[in-house]
Amino acid sequence: MRDAEPSAIYLKDYQVPSHLIDKTHLHFILHPTKTRVSSDLTIRKNPDADTKSNELILHGQDIDLQSVSIDGRQLDDRDYQLEAECLRIANVPEQFVLSVVGLIAPADNTSLEGLYKSQSMYCTQCEAEGFRKITYFLDRPDVLSEFTTTVVADKTEFPVLLSNGNPIKSGSLDDNMHFVTWHDPFPKPAYLFALVGGDLECIQDSFTTTSGRAIDLKIYVEEKDLDKCDHAMASLKSSMRWDEDVYGREYDLDIFMIVAVDDFNMGAMENKGLNIFNTSCVLAKAETTTDAGFQRVEAVVAHEYFHNWSGNRVTCRDWFQLSLKEGFTVFRDAEFSADMGSRTVKRVEDAKLLRAMQFAEDAGPLAHPVQPASFIEISNFYTLTVYEKGAEVVRMIHTLLGAEAFRQGSDLYFERNDGKAATIEDFVSSMEEAGGRDLSKFMSWYHQAGTPKLAVTADYNSSSREYALTFNQTCPTTPECDSEDKKPYLIPVAMGLLGSNGPLSLVPETDVDFSLSKNDTHCVLELTQPQHRVVFKDINAPPVPSLMRGFSAPVRLQFDYSPDDLITLMTQDDDGFTRWDACQQLCVSVIHEVEASLQQGKEPSVDSRLSDAARALITNQNLDPAMVALMLTLPSEGYLAEIATTANIDTIHSAREIVRNHLAASLKTEFAERFDSLPYFPEYEANAVQIAVRSLKNCCLGYLVATADPVWLERAMTQYRTATNMTDQSAALSVLALSPDSKAVDYSVSALSEFYQQWQSEALVVNQWFSVQAMQPGEKAVDRIRSLMQHEAFNINNPNKVRALIGAFANNNPVCFHNSDGSGYRLLAEVVKKLNATNPQIAARMLGPLTKWRKYDSKRRELMQAELNSIKQTVGLSKDVFEVISKSLA
Ligand code: BES
Ligand code: ZN
Repeated sequence: MRDAEPSAIYLKDYQVPSHLIDKTHLHFILHPTKTRVSSDLTIRKNPDADTKSNELILHGQDIDLQSVSIDGRQLDDRDYQLEAECLRIANVPEQFVLSVVGLIAPADNTSLEGLYKSQSMYCTQCEAEGFRKITYFLDRPDVLSEFTTTVVADKTEFPVLLSNGNPIKSGSLDDNMHFVTWHDPFPKPAYLFALVGGDLECIQDSFTTTSGRAIDLKIYVEEKDLDKCDHAMASLKSSMRWDEDVYGREYDLDIFMIVAVDDFNMGAMENKGLNIFNTSCVLAKAETTTDAGFQRVEAVVAHEYFHNWSGNRVTCRDWFQLSLKEGFTVFRDAEFSADMGSRTVKRVEDAKLLRAMQFAEDAGPLAHPVQPASFIEISNFYTLTVYEKGAEVVRMIHTLLGAEAFRQGSDLYFERNDGKAATIEDFVSSMEEAGGRDLSKFMSWYHQAGTPKLAVTADYNSSSREYALTFNQTCPTTPECDSEDKKPYLIPVAMGLLGSNGPLSLVPETDVDFSLSKNDTHCVLELTQPQHRVVFKDINAPPVPSLMRGFSAPVRLQFDYSPDDLITLMTQDDDGFTRWDACQQLCVSVIHEVEASLQQGKEPSVDSRLSDAARALITNQNLDPAMVALMLTLPSEGYLAEIATTANIDTIHSAREIVRNHLAASLKTEFAERFDSLPYFPEYEANAVQIAVRSLKNCCLGYLVATADPVWLERAMTQYRTATNMTDQSAALSVLALSPDSKAVDYSVSALSEFYQQWQSEALVVNQWFSVQAMQPGEKAVDRIRSLMQHEAFNINNPNKVRALIGAFANNNPVCFHNSDGSGYRLLAEVVKKLNATNPQIAARMLGPLTKWRKYDSKRRELMQAELNSIKQTVGLSKDVFEVISKSLA
């Protein structure tokens, strides 16, 4: 594939494009191995480019070039130079039309980037740099062009031919062929181009904007999936309304289309007017889709729709600005989900993801800033840091400015940059202007990698009745910067103080900027220095501080809470996030005690304060059942590993199991009573109330099955067999299949085989079946995965299948993946080597768990490094895999 090692590109080297492409006319004749792509590009020299050279360099890859002409005059091969990844034309006029014809082979394109086939359908994926696999172009996001696209294909096989914008012409041609021409009036970068050809059906609806324009909405799927589109359509309409209400943003074209495809590297893509979705993120129906699946569909539909403004109307100058569209849009979709369901539950789920996964990324060898300074392969930078931490950074701006100024800042940003390619600095400067404040100290969040640590200590002075908090911030060394060289962060700390009779009035005395709530019991401090001291006056007794309410900044908070302090927070604080977090910390401390006993060979005991607190939660009918379920869910093994310096997977697992079994045994009656008293909804709806009830019910069922009481095994099996929705069916399947108790084996075997029998024709449901089995415990796990890879339903070219089986194993079955014989690592390495040749993006993504080798003991480190080294020797190593491996081993 390549001779030299791939090299990095740097943000500091950014230069404006040498040329602009005002208009792009494309003509496709679809064919599996010889699709003919003809392009006519209206090009002119960029007046802002300072180069005197008349050379035009276009990106292009895997294209069989047929002809090149300028203003109708065909060039011969002395006029241009063809290289593996570009086409150079030495002497071009100031202004001209470039016509290029090339052949491409979508049926052979397993990378799922560019034009490819998913089953019988043709589709495209161009972000970030896939358009260059379709035709020669300036494939960079700051080159915006007006596209007109004609697609020609067989009428019977491909009755539906779609592209961006509006259809302007269509008709029949000879040989049973037909064509459709589409025109997109909004200039856009090539990464937003899309084309679809297939035998598809659609559901249709319409949305009337506030200004009275009627928009046609269409969701295209295979005929068999027509009954699974209603939820996505409803989500789309809610998203359109929400973006008008909350951001004042209307949709701009007359049609909005979504197409579902089976083979897709990501979740979905925001192509202008023609979003392409992984089937997993658009199809939903009660019988086949879990509550989490319904929520995912709603969130992804919203996310891609919101990109129409944050990403498409205002796009990115270069890929270092990726978080400008992704971080902002994730923030927007999170707020949308919070408004559609339970705000606190959404916040807890996001904080959980960030702390378990993004903090791990930020502490590992692939850590990078939200605005990276360099990359080898941009596909490797669609990360939790750019997305999730990027969204937290936008959220902090929202916290610092307040909702009203934030909205003004967003209006200013859209107005100023509409139709343009912008930078993160453009976004922040609009926010600065609208907020009337300087955010320069805030920029560390964009420029520095690593999770800041905020250590807080308290002292109370009874004679002066003063309570003082001292805040110390540090940020660990990351690949791009040493700890000592890091600038401090502007950290918003949302907080309050709890006294024995509830929240205290805050009278802060400090040089820190802060804002106080109307009732004085809540404030947001703005830390900017490595150390700050904040004194609260008129405090009669040592209070319990409630810190980082709503997870006000993505930091590791350190405060020495006693178990009783945590129980106070859990039961008394106004903030749902803090209540949940206190409960998690109590669980962590109890699990850590058990771990310590195990390591010292002592009989472990579980602090009874945890079971008492848990009892109070289960029996409290006034709490949101979804919050109770979240609080009763022990921290994941992944999170426990993340907060450990060296992760001892086996001890973590045993300690967690001991605590879980202890809770199950000591609260069996309470779990059973709550399980039986919660309602069953015969008419399934994916609303917050129903979802909350099902989550608590299935949480109780999990604990009850953990008691290994035959009655509860039987009841879980009954739920499995009688469930009329996938949430209850798959919850029952999971608790049985993942139970380590031998009494569960027969149930587990029957349920798994019945499940496949029942659902073998539903690909997305079969993926759940793969995932459950990937997470099953026991010595035979690796063999089981290997034989499932041979199963008729498995297909290594389908990313959803790879994620469901291999991804679930490597990420969610830590005990088996980290088996000290190295068999889990070997399996993953073999898969990565295969994928490297077919789908480098997925190969690089799957590598994730192996790159974190520094977290483990020396034996495992060596085994993991050995696998990484062996992958590194692969002939034809892709840029994607090369970058991840070399950074991980560095
Ligand atoms: N623009 C991305 C999709 C994308 C990224 C396609 C990189 C190709 C390469 C899209 O807007 C996105 O972010 N999708 C997310 C889901 C979203 C809800 C965060 C995804 O695909 O996972
Ligand atoms: Zn996105």
